[in-house]
Amino acid sequence: MSTDNAAHSVPGTGADPVAGAGPAASPGGDAVAGAVPAPAGIARVAIVGTGVIGASWAAHFLARGLDVVAADPAPGAEERLRADVAALWPTLAGIGSVHAGSPDRLTFTADAAEAAADADFVQENGPEREDVKRALFARLDAAARPGVVLASSSSGMAATAIARDCTAHPERVLVGHPFNPPHLIPLVEVVPGKHTSEQAVRTALAFYTAVGKKPIRVRRELPGHLANRLQAALWREAYSLVDRGAATVADIDTAIAYGPGLRWAILGPFANQHLSGGSGGIAHVLEHLGPPTEAWWRDLGDPSLTPELAAKLVAGVDEALAGIDHTALAARRDALVRLLLAAKADTDLP
Ligand SMILES: NC(=O)c1ccc[n+]([C@@H]2O[C@H](COP(=O)([O-])OP(=O)(O)OC[C@H]3O[C@@H](n4cnc5c(N)ncnc54)[C@H](O)[C@@H]3O)[C@@H](O)[C@H]2O)c1
Repeated sequence: MSTDNAAHSVPGTGADPVAGAGPAASPGGDAVAGAVPAPAGIARVAIVGTGVIGASWAAHFLARGLDVVAADPAPGAEERLRADVAALWPTLAGIGSVHAGSPDRLTFTADAAEAAADADFVQENGPEREDVKRALFARLDAAARPGVVLASSSSGMAATAIARDCTAHPERVLVGHPFNPPHLIPLVEVVPGKHTSEQAVRTALAFYTAVGKKPIRVRRELPGHLANRLQAALWREAYSLVDRGAATVADIDTAIAYGPGLRWAILGPFANQHLSGGSGGIAHVLEHLGPPTEAWWRDLGDPSLTPELAAKLVAGVDEALAGIDHTALAARRDALVRLLLAAKADTDLP
């Protein structure tokens, strides 16, 4: 492992030198200025698959002062990746994410195994297909040094399935699921499989923290992990309300973006509910509003995504966003996310 830093161990693991022993970034780490040293023990990260997610991860790790070796077999992938990193660099610099990093520390190969062989941590971002991931992880596992964590960005697959064909060290395979774009959104869901070692989980949590992310450990393998399930629960009811004619798409977007969504970006749903209970906190809310909430649950919808409903949702979005440029809207949203993260970084919010 090539690093200039003195080696540390992750507290409580007795593990080999790994990431995270240096100063941890704050929850909104991307927005914090100031030097965060490259994590001890992890100096070179392999990015396997350099599409939407892989390119964003690559830019983030480079900005954090790490060496990145990227792999993607698609024709023109290297040129696209270098262009993506160059395009993201001013944004990363603007949010204080560039910590002695440089795009020059990016190397590229078409061969995933070659990238993994020389890496201290592997972040896989290939296609979301089980057969592809299984074959890819079998190769990564055969090539990477023992103890090097193999993390998949998979949005919904289980590490147990992904590692099924790994015969060398399946205990270092886990899911490290980011939110798009990983260079901006702090959350990473770390989901171990049945075979995954505690040491690998701790290494991943420490590494992501050290590079400015906000990792959480998901305690059970479930389709969609955690945050996507929570989003899916909201979308299920939103689709149902449109289907029942109770609200338009625009009404629902307004309700969330100008209502609970504002608070959810600051504190989670439980902390917000606790605050709704005054001095009685969440215990009072559950006692007082629990029974009506149960009645609401019984009325919640369970829609199917029929072609008719899908057409209604698409037409609703088209009408709500008519005349608004998609790319410009995404840029304006992300600019506000950056401001919010910067503001949160100045607080001690949980
Ligand atoms: N797009 C999102 O919003 C999002 C968010 C979080 C996680 N993810 C997950 O990240 C992963 C990548 O998604 P994406 O949106 O970046 O997909 P993408 O299609 O943009 O990129 C996939 C890349 O993998 C490459 N690839 C194909 N076979 C490969 C191989 N054998 N070795 C190396 N690279 C290979 C492709 O050439 C392509 O560049 C998926 O598992 C997805 O579930 C996506």
